[in-house]
Amino acid sequence: MSTHDSYLELTWTDEVTGIKGYVVIDTLSRGVAGGGLRMRAGVTLDEVRDLAQAMTLKEAVVYTPGDQYIPLGGAKGGIDCDPYDPRAREVLARFGRAMKPLIEALFATGEDFGVRQDVMDEVFAEEGIRSSAESALGLVDDGADAAHERLKVAFAKSVHGVGLGELVGGYGVAEAALAALEFRGLKPASATAVVQGFGSMGGATARYLAAAGVRVVGISDKDGLVYNSEGLDVEHLLANRDVFGVIDRNGLQPGDELRPGGDWLGADADVLVPAAMSYVINADNVDQVKASVICEAANVATLPEAETVLLERGVTVVPDFVANVGTNAWWWWVAFADIEPTAEASFAKISGVLRPLTLELLTRARGEAISPREAATAISEEKRAAVAERYPTSVKSAAVAR
Ligand SMILES: NC(=O)c1ccc[n+]([C@@H]2O[C@H](COP(=O)([O-])OP(=O)(O)OC[C@H]3O[C@@H](n4cnc5c(N)ncnc54)[C@H](O)[C@@H]3O)[C@@H](O)[C@H]2O)c1
Repeated sequence: MSTHDSYLELTWTDEVTGIKGYVVIDTLSRGVAGGGLRMRAGVTLDEVRDLAQAMTLKEAVVYTPGDQYIPLGGAKGGIDCDPYDPRAREVLARFGRAMKPLIEALFATGEDFGVRQDVMDEVFAEEGIRSSAESALGLVDDGADAAHERLKVAFAKSVHGVGLGELVGGYGVAEAALAALEFRGLKPASATAVVQGFGSMGGATARYLAAAGVRVVGISDKDGLVYNSEGLDVEHLLANRDVFGVIDRNGLQPGDELRPGGDWLGADADVLVPAAMSYVINADNVDQVKASVICEAANVATLPEAETVLLERGVTVVPDFVANVGTNAWWWWVAFADIEPTAEASFAKISGVLRPLTLELLTRARGEAISPREAATAISEEKRAAVAERYPTSVKSAAVAR
């Protein structure tokens, strides 16, 4: 994926279970790197490295010179454990204990696939880690305590029963998808969507697509696809979802059908939102896609061979590190006091950044006859170079020099 070496790669073995965990620091900026921690049976160092590289792009792509928040470097953590494993919590605790020096010094982390922020906060607090983002909070002008307080206030907010911290990422995905529809001349009210995954990202994406008038006809979770050609009642499904993002099938509405999970990809819809695992659209299944827009909530959802096929067919793929940037950027906009810790300010900032950014990269891709991912990468690298120029000693990577 990238031509530079990671700044740091680390493999951890849990001394009790033998379970492996990984941290990759791809790049540092002002001495710190940011990226989530995922828990998934089968996660590998390669996967974590791919994700850490995407984090470098994701951090830089939202750089706005007037903001207090200056992009961090990119990192990622992964634990090779099923989040449903009864030992998952204690493994997370031992991982946190082992990584405490790294987390406090340079690895600012947060929730990702299989890990909830509130659980991480609770487990890390037991290990004496005040915040999973501690290292970045040290860069905030009015101090880590004030930043910590702002994050606490923001995370305590909820909108119609869902915590704000769980909503901002998917809100951004929905905004990016709506911008892509606009770019293609499609009106939300006449568009349909299918979302794979109904956790933090999928749940919020489905909510805000539906709120914009898009008919959400399919939502899948780990147990299969819930489909309704007339449109699902997303709020009702959110109210019948457990903490792992699984829909209670007893709460389905008349007209809702149960289909195999794999059917999400070939569903008849304008927009597909992969919001569960990585690598779900590949060379073997890409021919099933009927949608004209794919908006990646999940990281590395589309493999390169599949993306090439989709681009040749004229499908718009909004790349992960733009579409799903909302959660990451929101943390820092709150912590660095670029926005008030309220839902209104959060949604306004995310929309104000993601709509124009998505339109900019799609316009550039069309103008330069390159893929949206290439256009977004170019935008991110240009912004990263601008950060490096402003903080000359801060970007420890070959990425800006190549
Ligand atoms: N949470 C964030 O803020 C954030 C930010 C950026 C990117 N992401 C990425 O988005 C994706 C989802 O993250 P999340 O935080 O929403 O995860 P989550 O753990 O909250 O939810 C995962 C969802 O995927 C579903 N799922 C699991 N296996 C499935 C399968 N085989 N088929 C269909 N659905 C399945 C689960 O049932 C659940 O609904 C991940 O790839 C993550 O890296 C998350």
